[in-house]
Amino acid sequence: MPVITEIEDLHRLYRRRVPKMFYDYCQSGSWTEQTYRENETDFDLIRLRQRVAVDMENRSTASTMIGRDVAMPVALAPVGLTGMQHADGEILAAQAAEAAGVPFTLSTMSICSIEDVAEHTSKPFWFQLYVMRDEKFVDATLERARAAGCDALVLTLDLQILGQRHKDLKNGLSAPPKLTPASIANMMTKVRWGLNMAQTKRRFFGNIVGHADGVGDASSLSSWTAEQFDPRLDWDKVKRIADKWGGKLILKGILDAEDARMALQVGADAIVVSNHGGRQLDGALSSIRMLPEIVDEVGSRTEIHMDGGIRSGQDVLKALALGARGTYIGRAFIYGLGAMGRKGVETALEVIRKELDTTMALCGEKNVHDLGPNNLLVPKGFRGEWEGRNA
Ligand SMILES: Cc1cc2nc3c(=O)[nH]c(=O)nc-3n(C[C@H](O)[C@H](O)[C@H](O)COP(=O)(O)O)c2cc1C
Repeated sequence: MPVITEIEDLHRLYRRRVPKMFYDYCQSGSWTEQTYRENETDFDLIRLRQRVAVDMENRSTASTMIGRDVAMPVALAPVGLTGMQHADGEILAAQAAEAAGVPFTLSTMSICSIEDVAEHTSKPFWFQLYVMRDEKFVDATLERARAAGCDALVLTLDLQILGQRHKDLKNGLSAPPKLTPASIANMMTKVRWGLNMAQTKRRFFGNIVGHADGVGDASSLSSWTAEQFDPRLDWDKVKRIADKWGGKLILKGILDAEDARMALQVGADAIVVSNHGGRQLDGALSSIRMLPEIVDEVGSRTEIHMDGGIRSGQDVLKALALGARGTYIGRAFIYGLGAMGRKGVETALEVIRKELDTTMALCGEKNVHDLGPNNLLVPKGFRGEWEGRNA
């Protein structure tokens, strides 16, 4: 049994155990990957303020996200094709999140369906919606999420069209994987992955196949998804979907103060400061760098969450101290899942929880709610001085 002490240990195992096509799908950003890289490296620019001789007993990482109790303010982000990283991946990750007391978000582009996940868990999870051109499909999907007991809708706004990831095109990424000589040769070296995959029936996009008109098999599926992301999505449409849903609403993919103000107008319960893990607009600023400006703009009027680049509890602490009420991890939990299934996701969450708790203590704080800018050393000019901005 390998000794896991940090997220990078899970990453190394994940790389060994999962087919290259799916590893590359996770481990890449769009175009030059500048934003993807800076999501991580910008966290390193921020330092922590060490404090001593403070009573450290009875610490707590517990908090709430949109009114829901969480053991720590770290949710699992929606990640498409999670069920290709490990057989039944969405079910396993949702169960791990439930055991750890944190929210799980199911992607529209999941392999396990909404109903599958609901059947195998006992607490409500969050559902992430991509707005598709097919309104009947969108309405029916919202209805299914409601019927399954999902207690929040995470509406993703930063993927009206797809950013390009070079590796996915070169690998011919698909679910189930396309069988080419190269992909077969690679998959033959991933025995554990293959054995698990052979034992599950869940190998297609479970929320789509059999639910969207004209999509009954894998070949009709790929053309449907390529055409379906709705490029016409605007604030009126967001408002219509919010009204149709009627429940808690989290708007994901906000990276600009003006957009954050618009999000308030449609009545978002929270916004996620996010650039989709550097997978959409390459060249955009990192989430952690944009966070303070958005907190200044709307932080007193709505809950601010953030994601992008979080690989440790220290990163979580930095985001909270800069004003985020909650955070999400994407790749960090996928590394755990691909490495060791449900146990790996639980391990990833436990590594982060411990790091957050210890870091908080060494910063002289006992409660995540007390974290603030005074716990950080933020370099001068961290937000950047940009022409036409910061006026
Ligand atoms: C492999 C992969 C697939 C993703 N799929 C989705 C998705 O289906 N829906 C969505 O809203 N975001 C998706 N995202 C973005 C994540 O929800 C999240 O914003 C991002 O992973 C955060 O960055 P991190 O991976 O550095 O933690 C995906 C990210 C990755 C890495």
